[in-house]
Amino acid sequence: MTLQAWLMDDSNEDPRVPHRRNPNELVSLDQLAELGVLYWQLNPNNYENDLELTNIRETRGYNYMDLLDLCPEKVENYEEKLKNFYTEHIHNDEEIRYCLEGRGYFDVRDKHDRWIRILIKAGDLIILPAGIYHRFTLDPTNYVKLMRLFKGEPVWTAYNRPQEDNPSRKEYIKSLTQKFGVPLAAH
Ligand code: LAC
Ligand code: NI
Repeated sequence: MTLQAWLMDDSNEDPRVPHRRNPNELVSLDQLAELGVLYWQLNPNNYENDLELTNIRETRGYNYMDLLDLCPEKVENYEEKLKNFYTEHIHNDEEIRYCLEGRGYFDVRDKHDRWIRILIKAGDLIILPAGIYHRFTLDPTNYVKLMRLFKGEPVWTAYNRPQEDNPSRKEYIKSLTQKFGVPLAAH
C-alpha cells in the first residue's frame, strides 16, 4: 500500500489518534510533492542490502545514517520527548526518515497553513524539505523504528515557529511561490 495522508481535523484529542476529518479528505502524493515532500516505498526487511536505498543515498548524498527506536521502554522521558517532536518547527536541512517497523505521523503545513497528517509505516521513506513547518508523533501503539539519513555531519536543531525571518524558511517560501505563482500569507 502506498503512503496515506489526509487533512487533519481541529479537535484537541490526543495527538496520537488519527484526526481525520469527517468526511475524510485524502491528500495525494502529487499534492505532497508540490509542498516538496518526497516519498519512496522500499522493502524494510532488506534495508541492509537494499540497492534502491543505496541508490537514493548515493544520488542525494546521504552518507550519514543511524537508527532510532522510539517507545516508552527504550526512551528516557518518553512523553516529554514526544511533546518536543510535536512542537511545530523547521530545520535548516531536509528531514529524512525511513520507517523500518511500527508507525508514526508526520504532520506538515500545506500552502493554506492547514495540517496534513502523513502516516508512515514499515517501508515508507519520506523527505521533508528544509524550511517546511512540521511535527511528529507516534500512534497509540507507541512504537516506531526509524532510520535517519543526512548529508554530511548531522544537525538535528529544531527552530520552533514562528521562523519567518529564517533563511531556510524564506528559501522554502520562495520555492513554493515559484511553483504556485502566488506568495504564501505570512503567519
Ligand atoms: C524527529 C524524529 C521523529 O526528528 O526523528 O521528529
Ligand atoms: Ni523535525
